[in-house]
Amino acid sequence: MSSSLYYLKQNVVAEPLVDGWYAWAHLIPPATLSRNVTERHLKIMDSYIESPETHEAAVKDPRLLGGPFMDLKPRQQQAVEKLRERTLREREHLLILSRALEELDALLREKAAGFSLEPLYAEIPRALQGYVELVYDLNNHPSFRLIEPLLYKSPYYNCWLQTVALSEITGDDRPFVLSTPRLHDGEALHLPIPFASERLDHLFQAKRAPSPEGELWDALGLGDYDQARFRSLLTTDVPRPYQRYDGDGARWRYFGHACILLETRGVNVLLDPVLSYTYENDISRYTYEDLPDVIDYVLITHNHQDHILFETLLQLRHRIRHIVVPRNGAGALQDPSLKLLLQQCGFRNVIEISEMEEIPFERGSITALPFLGEHGDLNVLTKSAYLLKMGKHRLMFAADSCNISPEVYRHVHRDVGDVDALFVGMECDGAPMSWIYGPLLTQKLERQKDHSRRLAGSNYERALAIVEQFRCKDVYVYAMGQEPWLNYVMSIKYTEKSNPIIHSNRLMETCRSRGITAERLFGEKEILLD
Ligand SMILES: [Fe+2]
Ligand SMILES: [Fe+2]
Repeated sequence: MSSSLYYLKQNVVAEPLVDGWYAWAHLIPPATLSRNVTERHLKIMDSYIESPETHEAAVKDPRLLGGPFMDLKPRQQQAVEKLRERTLREREHLLILSRALEELDALLREKAAGFSLEPLYAEIPRALQGYVELVYDLNNHPSFRLIEPLLYKSPYYNCWLQTVALSEITGDDRPFVLSTPRLHDGEALHLPIPFASERLDHLFQAKRAPSPEGELWDALGLGDYDQARFRSLLTTDVPRPYQRYDGDGARWRYFGHACILLETRGVNVLLDPVLSYTYENDISRYTYEDLPDVIDYVLITHNHQDHILFETLLQLRHRIRHIVVPRNGAGALQDPSLKLLLQQCGFRNVIEISEMEEIPFERGSITALPFLGEHGDLNVLTKSAYLLKMGKHRLMFAADSCNISPEVYRHVHRDVGDVDALFVGMECDGAPMSWIYGPLLTQKLERQKDHSRRLAGSNYERALAIVEQFRCKDVYVYAMGQEPWLNYVMSIKYTEKSNPIIHSNRLMETCRSRGITAERLFGEKEILLD
């Protein structure tokens, strides 16, 4: 073994997996995982086994992007059958939990008619007893809340389902994460290391701080497990040095989608980290290499997979001082607590923030602002826009907030005043609610209803109302999912005729006609503020 110092190559992708499926936020809490196993994974696997050709054709059809089709190499039927058998054999407790959630919903529909819920506790499905409280809202609609901390401590949560798959990437294309499992096909090195393990920090530190090869391997604690494979992912090439901001004002850099880094000499803040790796490509971009060694605050706007990506967060964990998430924890199945979830994944520095609450720091502050809609009218609390004050600059990040009720931001404006720069997402078509939340529903939602409840951001009128309300001087449309390195979580391809493009073009025209700077961000951008 060589005594030279080695880095982990900059183009090494580290995909966190749960039972072989890409770990997005609903695959970590046991209840949402159980529903996705039975209602998404097993169904997609059944469909693939029945007709792999249909899947192979569907993933080539741009109209079916993001649909329930596996994007696998040809002839993977046997491998998928094996995965399906293993799921049925070894994940029985999750199958039971999923069924129990269905039975509990049915019980409440049938028997909770406005009278006391106490007699129903005896009828709660066994698998859920002790993990739920039954409640009515004030209109006597029955429901339940999950006692999430107990579920994480129960046998339903098994951190050994978690692995990390390492492979080298040379282009932007990656299979869509909600529908394609990562099979053991010899392409990736699958490390059996749970997300919370500090071993992963050792591994990811090596992207910037080199180590002797043996030391790096020992830190992973994997014995003889595929050491030769691991060696191929290392390099002696020194990474590009990071250029920190050293001016008297502030600098922001757009990394793609909703990911923006803001820096002053004293503090830096990173929003919705979703990053590209470094490899040869045609679209210029900032990557992991362009981040500071210490990130003071990471801000998460909401729990959609294009805004909270464990793949990125786990690789940055050792650099993050604080990670700020919208407060929730009300125990709704569709709204798992981000604080608990991140804590399970080894983050010890999670700050929950409520609407209109402020976190001060030297010469600035972070204020959480209401984020409306974009969640199919489900009661989801994990949503926050942010106002960032950095020195004399005031920037508002509205993410996918859909300004359905402009009165809300009128009240907010009365409290916080004008904003210099607005960043607003305008994905105004949005997927139907079932795209993300479908597996959690235990009763079929009619197609028409599903399609009326969309995960849509602000359109022209709604975004313009925010610009006018806060008297913004600069407007940046972002979070549009247009960067090709986002395809594996977004599956969006716009044309000039797509509503989000038409509406954002109109917004930019209107703004410019009023002397407001306006731009739809794409790829990379740097702005220096004095
Ligand atoms: Fe969203
Ligand atoms: Fe989004």
